[in-house]
Amino acid sequence: MAPRPYIQPVVDSTAVFKADLFNGKVLFCTGGGSGICKAMTESVMRHGANAVILGRKIDRLTAAAEELSAKTGRKCLPIQADVRKPEQLKDAVAKTIEKFGRIDFVICGAAGNFLAPIQGISENAFRTVIEIDTLGTYHTIKATLPYVRQSKGSYIHVSATLHYRGTPYQVHVSAAKAAVDATSAVLAVEEGPHGVRSNVIAPGPIAGTEGMDRLGPKGPTSISSEFYRAMPVGRMGDVKDIANTTVFLFSDAASFITGQIIVVDGGNEHLRVPGLPYPESVLDPESVKAMIKPRL
Ligand code: COA
Repeated sequence: MAPRPYIQPVVDSTAVFKADLFNGKVLFCTGGGSGICKAMTESVMRHGANAVILGRKIDRLTAAAEELSAKTGRKCLPIQADVRKPEQLKDAVAKTIEKFGRIDFVICGAAGNFLAPIQGISENAFRTVIEIDTLGTYHTIKATLPYVRQSKGSYIHVSATLHYRGTPYQVHVSAAKAAVDATSAVLAVEEGPHGVRSNVIAPGPIAGTEGMDRLGPKGPTSISSEFYRAMPVGRMGDVKDIANTTVFLFSDAASFITGQIIVVDGGNEHLRVPGLPYPESVLDPESVKAMIKPRL
């Protein structure tokens, strides 16, 4: 295998942006207990904001909140909530206002995913992902918007790139994320005159995340090694890549950017290697079973 002459570095946002950028601000983040959203929350806290993280598993959230506070010196409130339940989000917003008095930034990050073909996925499984990703985003916007309008704040929705093309085994998420992208654009246009911005971050393959664990091809086959190798910037994504984009988009340096989808994927979108062999994966699903994370 040819050596890489250059590999783009991974940096901390604090190496680029001011430490007190978000002093006095408050972040509300769904899905903030783990993975990409936890890293996004950490970076916003590192620049001075307090945060609320939401998820379904309170033990994981509580541990994450303690870790985030210890690392950043800011306050982090964990709140158990399912984004499919609008009343739980309204309660979470009420608790946020009670504790911190305001909401400046919102990350709509809670998501669900697994690999399944159209023929194999159940109606309930398809609906479940639409409910978490699409309805969850809508419920989060609805519950937070009055406060984000007051603070002239900003939204970031965590989406994906897989729906830009037809990605096999991803019909549920493709439909859900396309709707998230559209929702963000409407939010930007309707709320822009009120001082609210809304953008989408579309992460590519990010190493060490639950999403990568669920979706990345498994096993020592040539296609899985090619998938991980074929990154134009020379490496897999790091959660810090998404975190740095988050800090920029929430900052005033991005004040003229709204209604946009920012792809953060190291150029992967333009040189996409299929995760599962094609057309074998659709002609003979049994042949790729070993490459798919088994159900828990
Ligand atoms: N393949 C096919 N169908 C699956 C599946 C898989 N790997 N995992 C779950 N399902 C189906 C279930 O069988 C069920 O359908 P059924 O009632 O027809 O049998 C449906 O999806 C709902 O599953 P359930 O486990 O009851 O839902 P849940 O609300 O507890 O979990 C999920 C939601 C399925 C999205 C789950 O994967 C999850 O909680 N994910 C969150 C984390 C995540 O996905 N992170 C990665 C983001 S990229």
